[in-house]
Amino acid sequence: MSRTGWILTLGALIVAAGIGYWLSGHLPGGEVSRGANGQPVVSTGTPQIGGPFALVNQDGQPVTQDSFDGKYLLIYFGFTYCPDVCPTDLAKMAAAMDALGEDAEKVQPIFITIDPERDTPEQMKLYIEQFDPRLVGLTGTPDQIATAAQAYRAQYDKVKDPGAAGGYTMEHTPYIYFMSPDNEFLTFFVGTSVTPEDMAKAIKAKME
Ligand code: NI
Repeated sequence: MSRTGWILTLGALIVAAGIGYWLSGHLPGGEVSRGANGQPVVSTGTPQIGGPFALVNQDGQPVTQDSFDGKYLLIYFGFTYCPDVCPTDLAKMAAAMDALGEDAEKVQPIFITIDPERDTPEQMKLYIEQFDPRLVGLTGTPDQIATAAQAYRAQYDKVKDPGAAGGYTMEHTPYIYFMSPDNEFLTFFVGTSVTPEDMAKAIKAKME
């Protein structure tokens, strides 16, 4: 299956199965049962999404989850050589920031690469500037990236692609995570299906 197909299928699967099921069935901290109508019911638990990370930003400076001045974090994992999904999702994040109006000042949008081999700080800087000046781009060693992605349950895979730079492309989950200033998971969006307006609305609803 093509990379795009893989992502769309995954996204469609999640939407079809219900977000509650995904959170409880695929993440620790929740239990799933079946209601009378066969629909999954989440009985307990808060999804364990997020955790410490140690990366470098587009200026080569060290950054952790606590480097953002008490802001809410809007986090997306992808890679700069992504032909279609990442550019679309990052543009949506930028549009959601615009739709937030003054509340955007409380939100830090972050793009974390899952392709550190090609995505140097310099490459990240060139890339994020195309989307939004507020965006921060993070990279690191393969181990640092793996730790960050694992904390957020973001998945990725290197796939041969003779036509691409370096002879490979990356498959990855298209989730946009919204975290509290205390790094608590608040909600997530499927980048491939959410609209910027809906994202901004959900973000505002989660802000206290
Ligand atoms: Ni992508």
